[in-house]
Amino acid sequence: MYTDLNGKVAVITGGSKGIGKAIAKRFGQEKMAVVVNYNSDSKGAQEAAEQVIANGGQAVTVQADVATEAGNQLLLQTALDHFGTLDIWVNNAGMEIQAPTHELTLEAWNKVVTIDQTGVFLGAKTALAYFKAQHKKGNIINMSSVHEQIPWPTFASYAAAKGGVKLLTQTIAMEYAKDGIRVNAIGPGAINTPINAEKFADQAQYDQTVSMVPMNRIGTPEEVAAGAAWLASEESSYVTGITLFIDGGMTLYPAFKDGQG
Ligand code: BGC
Repeated sequence: MYTDLNGKVAVITGGSKGIGKAIAKRFGQEKMAVVVNYNSDSKGAQEAAEQVIANGGQAVTVQADVATEAGNQLLLQTALDHFGTLDIWVNNAGMEIQAPTHELTLEAWNKVVTIDQTGVFLGAKTALAYFKAQHKKGNIINMSSVHEQIPWPTFASYAAAKGGVKLLTQTIAMEYAKDGIRVNAIGPGAINTPINAEKFADQAQYDQTVSMVPMNRIGTPEEVAAGAAWLASEESSYVTGITLFIDGGMTLYPAFKDGQG
């Protein structure tokens, strides 16, 4: 636990399931006040909020579309109305659509890029404007992926969006470092979350994914949430502009693991 997080106020987008829900719970354990955003899964968001409260934090759930300015404003306003301030903004909401690139529809491309990249921009912009106006040394955490680095055939929109999140993170980290605002990303690998539920239900696909992880297992949402807590806390006070890979070594070129090449 990081005692400096006690009482801090956070917005988490996409907090109703998977990694976002685990971050909400972890922030509850840190005794934080959390605005749990969701798009369609109000039940999941409610569960996340209950976990925050059960662990000693405070929580409120808000439906909002992170791909709109109004949605992000609503999240900020909810934090201010309920908890009086904003300290940490986690741009976690995301999605992926698989299709061969020559068949990927413009509609599908736009959907993924709008949520996974434009949503991160809008969330960061909203938080930055507040932090600047309040002269606050705020903290932004963007959920990227190992696929900000590893090309991912048939997931062009997702990989392109995450590659964009990497440079967006680095750019705004540099732009606002002088204000004491820190901006970092997390790059999860293969994690046991709903985004992967269908794939991991298939034993062959599950085994195939595990074989691409040097640590030989799928990660847990809690292991990603631990990284978010560290980046949110003052324990990482000299860290900005990084992507913290939490991937069991997936980004280490595992095909070379037995000395091939
Ligand atoms: C994706 C998962 C995938 C993992 C490793 C993540 O960013 O969301 O679906 O299993 O990368 O490829």
